[in-house]
Amino acid sequence: MSRPKVFVARRIPDEGLNAIRAVCDVDVWPEQLPPPPAVLRRHVADCDGLVSLLTDRVDAELLDAAPKLKVVSNFAVGFNNVDVAACTARGVCVGNTPGALTDATADIAVTLLLAAARRVGESATDAKEGRWLTWEPLGWLGSDLAGRTLGIVGMGRIGFAAAKRLHGGWGMKVLYTARGPKEDADKELGATRVELDELLAQSDFVSVHADLNPTTKGLFGAAQFAKMKRTAVFVNTSRGPLVDQAALAAALRDGTIFAAGLDVTDPEPLPTDHELFRLPNCLIVPHVASATIDTRNAMARLCANNLLAGVRGAALPNWVNPEVADKRRA
Ligand code: DGY
Repeated sequence: MSRPKVFVARRIPDEGLNAIRAVCDVDVWPEQLPPPPAVLRRHVADCDGLVSLLTDRVDAELLDAAPKLKVVSNFAVGFNNVDVAACTARGVCVGNTPGALTDATADIAVTLLLAAARRVGESATDAKEGRWLTWEPLGWLGSDLAGRTLGIVGMGRIGFAAAKRLHGGWGMKVLYTARGPKEDADKELGATRVELDELLAQSDFVSVHADLNPTTKGLFGAAQFAKMKRTAVFVNTSRGPLVDQAALAAALRDGTIFAAGLDVTDPEPLPTDHELFRLPNCLIVPHVASATIDTRNAMARLCANNLLAGVRGAALPNWVNPEVADKRRA
């Protein structure tokens, strides 16, 4: 029997790649930048499986160019780059990597929150560039965390892990939004589910963990920043398009809110001449939330397991569209 053919859209850790190579004929895109859409279509044309990244758009056009494709294994927990409905309609399984990056992402949310609150980016740049002239009683004053109120927008796995750190470490009171009540957050963290407007009005720190979908796109605009405290710190580790960046830049510039820490932007990379980069109270890192060795290895293992199950026609361990199985049975 011939080995399944797989395209891997970027070099991923060997722990995943070797497992795929043991079973499949593998074509790995060797470059640092993603394959352009037409090139991606060419590479998957005769493939059974695709390992995609959040930078690779998997849409109807790509699927139609790959009639043998059985599985798209996304090397991420988020899958907004994949048109899942188009995959399901064609019987293509979609997998993702939930769980593996929960702790690493929560760590970056806390890092950004703390760094933005204490003006770490701005003061480190000032020190390096010669603006550290003496010890100043009124220099680089930031905000305390202890006992303050944390608003988690999207109390899923990552939101819970971030809240647990900040409640346990700094005694923060936790408010959250979610589609339904979250018993573990209520019991373990004494958290309270509220409407978004109430969360914005009462929180000292707002950390965004909702996924990107048509209902969350542009969730944070001028009206939402206006509802936040002038001392508030805003953190986003989910997806850039949840935020209207012009409105965020205005809010940071005008003092509507105190500071922001962003792991994600729209687009990525954010052009270096973007106003957000010039604002001293905005700290931006290049979508590194899952960038630890152990986390990326774990993601690679999950991604390989999904891919291998998909090419075998078996159930994916982390299956975004399990309804494909019903479609097959029908
Ligand atoms: C994901 O997996 O969705 C993350 O954004 C990647 O770090």
